[in-house]
Amino acid sequence: MEKIYVVIPDRIGTINPNIYGHFVEHLGGVIYDGIWVGEDSNIPNINGIRKDLVELLRKINPSVIRWPGGCFSETYNWRDGIGPREKRPKTVNWWYTLDGRLEPNEFGTHDFVKFCRLVGAEPYFAANIASIPPLEVRNWVEYCNFPSGTTTLAELRRENGSTEPFGVKYWGIGNENWGGGGSFTPEDYCTEFRRVATTVKSLDRDLRIIACGANGDDTEWTRRFFEKWKDSTINDPVRFFGYSVHYYCGTAGNALEFDSNQWYELLYKASYMEDIIVKHRKIMDIYDLERKIGIAVDEWGCWHPEGSGPSKGKNLFEQQCTMRDALVAGITLNIFNNHCDKVIMANVAQMVNCLHSLFFSDGEKFVVTPNYFVFDMYKGHQGGNTVKTIVEAEEIPFKAGDKEKRLFGLNCSASIKDKKLTLTIVNPHFTDTCETQIVLFGAGEGKVTRRILLQAEDPHAFNDFDSPNMVKPKEDYPDLSGKDFALTLPPASITLLEIEIS
Ligand code: AHR
Repeated sequence: MEKIYVVIPDRIGTINPNIYGHFVEHLGGVIYDGIWVGEDSNIPNINGIRKDLVELLRKINPSVIRWPGGCFSETYNWRDGIGPREKRPKTVNWWYTLDGRLEPNEFGTHDFVKFCRLVGAEPYFAANIASIPPLEVRNWVEYCNFPSGTTTLAELRRENGSTEPFGVKYWGIGNENWGGGGSFTPEDYCTEFRRVATTVKSLDRDLRIIACGANGDDTEWTRRFFEKWKDSTINDPVRFFGYSVHYYCGTAGNALEFDSNQWYELLYKASYMEDIIVKHRKIMDIYDLERKIGIAVDEWGCWHPEGSGPSKGKNLFEQQCTMRDALVAGITLNIFNNHCDKVIMANVAQMVNCLHSLFFSDGEKFVVTPNYFVFDMYKGHQGGNTVKTIVEAEEIPFKAGDKEKRLFGLNCSASIKDKKLTLTIVNPHFTDTCETQIVLFGAGEGKVTRRILLQAEDPHAFNDFDSPNMVKPKEDYPDLSGKDFALTLPPASITLLEIEIS
């Protein structure tokens, strides 16, 4: 029997709700159709924003949403997306060479902030630093955040419909500046970052600035960026709030077709997020002695070959999401919870009609993917205190190509709020049930008050417009209590336990 020890007195920190964040980009079908259907559409909408999406998102507490890209942000001129819609220019989208789509700019700053307010999320803007001057980034901040009746830009915002400032706190300085965002070296990016961050912060010292960090485990970028950054701390330190990391799990098999080895290979890639965080935080600790800078994993998810999504290739990067992708989400979110003393934000890429999506839409059709249920099941962790868990489980041997590898036998995280413990457990076994003993350490007795199980007969299962309920969670109230109790975890499943601690 496998064992999970939940060491109640051993706390790691508070789980920032922003770990349960999202990402939307002007790419393929994400904004147009996914979010924005237009005010005159027959599709039920709130001020042009898809109503189904708003209602379902609200239920999972989407703490923060990053926009407008991604790569798109690095050729975005925010002025194109404000003012009367019919006067907004049509521009060439960053992704044009891949899908030939132009950018109508129907959805801009006001629309995105409205969307965030409708779903109860904080907006997180990724600013263009590769193709507009720093003053224009500062102007965008001023346009968004200055009170009406002060500057000309604040007045322009009022004229465009918003007397209330938008109060955008989170600003990313660039996107993937090692690649699509200007192909900088870490040193050159650091110089640009300091220039833009200083310019922008002269407007408001309290903005939460996020620097562009590494691609996956590229610790060399991190080391070189911080090595350069340390010089700036001599006189006027450019203090910043977060350092971003992007990590996508490349495919094993494809989105829909995979054998047991490929199942394990993808979960193994997901579990590599642990190493990525550990490696980067080690380097950051050398330079950020006060441990003030957090990690923002502001793009994560699976990246399969495209064409498997309901649009069958019409929407760039759109891919179908099976139970395997749901387990990737479960493992990744458990890792973030367990590193909540360093990870301050994470944004799954991308919300709708894209990579690792929670939703698919096509005109009036709309469906939730298994990933949605994972965010729903895990939402109780938001704002909780991570409790240390120790897992005793047999590793699972598998083959990745011709290499022998081993995957952990169980993955979990636990958090506590008042007297309620939230425990989320992933059983990664493709076909094996896992008999597990849960041991509550250092507290009184526990009583399970609710269990939710996400599992499907076939781990290849997914939801689409014609069969929207192939994967859906089951809730029950098992009679489990005491200082320890046994639990059966079905194969290829995610379990949520809510436990009342006496
Ligand atoms: O999420 C799709 C793309 O992946 C983003 O635009 C970019 O930042 C990353 O490479």
